Order: sequence, then C-alpha cells, then structure tokens
Amino acid sequence: DGLRQPIIAIDGPAGAGKSTVARQVATQLGLVYLDTGAMYRAITWLVLQKGIAIDDECAVAQLATQCKIELTPSHNLEIPVRVWINDTDVTQEIRTIEVTSQVSAIAAQSAVRKALVKQQQSWGKRGGLVAEGRDIGTHVFPDAEVKIFLTASVGERARRRQQDFTKQGQPEVSLEQLERDIAERDYKDSTRKISPLQKAADAVEVETDGLSPSEVAMQIVNYYQKCVSQL
Ligand code: DC
Repeated sequence: DGLRQPIIAIDGPAGAGKSTVARQVATQLGLVYLDTGAMYRAITWLVLQKGIAIDDECAVAQLATQCKIELTPSHNLEIPVRVWINDTDVTQEIRTIEVTSQVSAIAAQSAVRKALVKQQQSWGKRGGLVAEGRDIGTHVFPDAEVKIFLTASVGERARRRQQDFTKQGQPEVSLEQLERDIAERDYKDSTRKISPLQKAADAVEVETDGLSPSEVAMQIVNYYQKCVSQL
C-alpha cells in the first residue's frame, strides 16, 4: 500500500563499519535504525547469563522464542542502540568479548534465526527502516528498495574494532588477536548452513577502506535518492 516507506538493507562482515554508517543514513533520511546483530548478541548474553550450554539447541530455542527484545534509540554517539532483553538493559553487556566470541554459534541455530527474523519482519511491515546485519538483503527483506553490501580489508576492520574497544573503555586487545577473531567470525558467518553472510545479487558493494563513516553514509544517501526517484 501507499503507506509503506522504503527499506534500506545494509549487510557485510564484522567491522566493515555498518553500525555507524547505518545510523547516520537513518538519521539523515528520517528512518528507523535496526541493528539486528544486537538481537543475536542479546540472546547470546541471556544464554550465558542463564548458564545454558551454547550447543543446547533445545534450551536456546526455547529462550529465543520466549524472550522479549526491545531496541530503543541511543542518544550517545558511541553506543549504536539501547538493547533490552526481558526488561533488562544489556546495552553494554552485549559488546563484551565473551558475548562476541559466542554469538556466531548462537546465530547459526535455525530456531534462533527463525524467531529473530520473524520479529524483524514484523517491525519492517510498514518499511521506513535502515536494517543492518548479514542476511537482510538476502533473507529478511528481500524486497528492500536499496541493498548495500559493505566491506573492508581484515586489517582495516581490526583497527576499527580496536578503536571501538578503547572508546568503550574495554581492555586492550592486540591487532593480531583481533584479525584472527575477525577472520574466524567471517569464516563461520559465511560458511554456516542457514542464511550465510552473502552479497545479494542486487546489492551494491561499497568498499570502505580509507573512507570515513560520513563519506560512506553520503554515498549511500545519494544512491538511495537515485533509487527512490526511479521507483
Ligand atoms: O554485527 P554484529 O557483530 O553485532 O553481529 C553479531 C553476530 O550476529 C555476528 O557473528 C553475525 C550474527 N548476525 C547474523 O547472523 N545475522 C544478522 N542479521 C546479524 C548478525
């Protein structure tokens, strides 16, 4: 119907700059920012907090289908979004190394993906979103008006992650360690059976090495305006 607003899908590997860029694009265009990675992180946090084994797919599935996740805007530039699970604020907790190292295993479970994708699609029913993740253009919103695939080299992504940790006041992690973690997570995310990280056939690839988030956001806003004027 005529009330449906456009959706911008932004996918890509960890550290390609999706969060900052997606937020800026959403702000500039007056759309809602949806950080889907934060949802997989929130479930992971809850699993760890409840002492459930990561590979206990039944127990994890039960949590994923019964929990309530809320995302609310953050007014702090350093924090992508405020995240709540079952009314607990886990905004900070979901960014720790513990959660980050376990989230791929949770995101690979079909029941988890099914529950979260359903939630994402219901939030997107009327459009008006900039949704960021791994499977947005391929699976969650295959009809998105604009699809972007953001990339950057592993070295560049490790440097960005290190800066994020420093800004968040987290303990320093070596670049080597970060590069290994990123390469491992890329491998897991792009080889898993369900909804692997993949560029949608109709997505535009943007390589972000050496570009600031605002420069990338500007490219996307320009591209969006071109796409929308042709609808
Ligand atoms: O973007 P991020 O680092 O916050 O994502 C956390 C994890 O969740 C990452 O390992 C990939 C996974 N993820 C996913 O499988 N599908 C999405 N749509 C978003 C994230």
